[in-house]
Amino acid sequence: MRSHYCGVVDAAFIDQEVTLCGWVHKRRDHGGVIFIDLRDREGLIQVVIDPDTAEIFAIAEQVRNEYVLKITGRVRMRPQGTINEELHTGHIEVLAKDLVVLNAAQTPPFQLDDDDVQEETRMRYRYIDLRRPAMQEHMRLRSSVTQKLRNSLDDQNFLDVETPILTRATPEGARDYLVPSRTHQGDYFALPQSPQLFKQILMMSGIDRYYQFARCFRDEDLRADRQPEFTQLDMEMSFVEEKDIMQTTERMMRELFQSQMGVELPDPFPTMPYSEAMLRYGSDKPDLRIDLELVELSEELKHVEFKVFSGPAADPGSRVTALLVPEGCKLTRKEIDVYTEFVGRYGAKGLAYIKCNDVTLGKEGLQSPIVKNLDDQALQSIISKTGAKSGDLIFFGAGKSTVVSDSLGALRVKLGHDLGRVAEGWRPLWVVDFPMFEWDEGTKRWHALHHPFTAPSSTDLEQLRKDPGAALSRAYDMVLNGTELGGGSIRIHDAQMQQQVLELLGIGEEEAEDKFGFLLKALSYGAPPHGGIAFGIDRLVMLMAGASTLRDVMAFPKTQSASCLLTDAPGSVSERQLKELGLRARKKEASS
Ligand code: AMO
Ligand code: AMP
Repeated sequence: MRSHYCGVVDAAFIDQEVTLCGWVHKRRDHGGVIFIDLRDREGLIQVVIDPDTAEIFAIAEQVRNEYVLKITGRVRMRPQGTINEELHTGHIEVLAKDLVVLNAAQTPPFQLDDDDVQEETRMRYRYIDLRRPAMQEHMRLRSSVTQKLRNSLDDQNFLDVETPILTRATPEGARDYLVPSRTHQGDYFALPQSPQLFKQILMMSGIDRYYQFARCFRDEDLRADRQPEFTQLDMEMSFVEEKDIMQTTERMMRELFQSQMGVELPDPFPTMPYSEAMLRYGSDKPDLRIDLELVELSEELKHVEFKVFSGPAADPGSRVTALLVPEGCKLTRKEIDVYTEFVGRYGAKGLAYIKCNDVTLGKEGLQSPIVKNLDDQALQSIISKTGAKSGDLIFFGAGKSTVVSDSLGALRVKLGHDLGRVAEGWRPLWVVDFPMFEWDEGTKRWHALHHPFTAPSSTDLEQLRKDPGAALSRAYDMVLNGTELGGGSIRIHDAQMQQQVLELLGIGEEEAEDKFGFLLKALSYGAPPHGGIAFGIDRLVMLMAGASTLRDVMAFPKTQSASCLLTDAPGSVSERQLKELGLRARKKEASS
């Protein structure tokens, strides 16, 4: 229908006739002349309708925003003074000769250039929202990113293999989405939380190098960087060790950032053990752009009178940690209260602080509700270990290690943003040497920190059984600017070791057979050593786009409450459908 996209026409087209199709972005009446900004995927172009062409002028008078038009006309220079350098088409305009309304449009629920539209409205009218140039840009970026990753993996002999969506539960730590089976009433498929077991089986099938852009489903609490349905670049390789996967994938990321954005990522990416990340940043995905660090004071504060500190300092499962805020004396009482409330959300019981007005004056120079409870020696070591200078403030977290890490780790990031201490640029990092297991007080069980198919660093079964808490795993996470981009591991390829690990996780032989019997069997028929990783594509594109939520880089995302406002999914089903599935719905509970 058209000769060119609107957005590509420029001064090289002068005097040519073009036929364009697109949406009316804006229509302006200017003293008898009508201007229409016509928009398509590639951009805007200015169309002029002169009253001399009376027939199409009459049509142009009727068109409104978002009408779909086909326009034929001649390209000419814009008059002096009306040139728009911002637009690719800004030097020219099209004098219309013919104009057809391909479709009318109701008044849109929001203006495309309004940046302050309620998200609910955007989701409900997603087709209009997606017409906005920023969203078009995100879709384009996403397509380009997946294309480049595909090419890069293709070049390295990875095979793209699809795995089932209707499958059995894979334990990645979230709740499953279940699908009732009609042909096996009372039984359920689970949608995959990841293709983990299938990709391992593909290695046992001799595929050697696998990748897939895999849709994953996890029924978990949603946040800005979590969707119930998301896309992984899922990979697995045979006959490899950690360094092989890490080198292959960081090279892929370096090439992607270079070709997509002209950004040089470091070569190699730095690597940090999990324990160090927790100690220095209170997080297993530290944002290295922020120059604030936690300082461990457990040793120094074991013997102080202040029980809030000495208790946790002496307890191995607890820690006392400081966070130095340069020039933090400027913080007001009110601001400190807000930060205290903030750490409270992570379970912290308080947020002790010392304002170091003048570090040369001893106790006199320090302003704080807790200095009276601390002896001179303790204060001295706090000042020297944190490196506090006059004008700085020191925050303290004391209590269970998990609570202190979570709360001060989050406070570090918040302060970094509040105080403008987030450096420009891209700071990737590998986090390695994760603990194999984590003790869960609630269920009184060990949990796999990654998933139960991750290999332990040591193959000493005896030792693993004796002290599961001390075991490290062969897992690695790729972190970028404080976001976990991807995670993976070298897998267990030995049936006996796999059985042992399942047993340690409280999954007995019978349950293991029922849930993972197919894997255990496959492991006994010649399983190669193998390992892999999966990257969150939505997260990667979000970071590259500078977006603050996954919803801005997915065409049809779900809301906070895991629904789709465009289609109104999930929806009810008929009695007949339920019956076919052998199901009967329980009455909805009053609260839901
Ligand atoms: P993991 O569970 O760490 O590992 O997931 C890998 C990556 O997927 C992304 N991701 C998500 N993105 C959006 N919304 C979510 N709800 C969500 N959950 C995870 C993250 C994460 O780093 N099978 C293993 C991988 C392996 O061992 O090879 C797995 O799924 O970016
Ligand atoms: P309190 O002795 O409870 O009055 O607390 C004295 C100071 O210590 C207050 O500033 C509290 O915010 C702080 N505080 C209390 N508990 C903790 C904790 N677990 N970690 C860090 N600071 C705390």
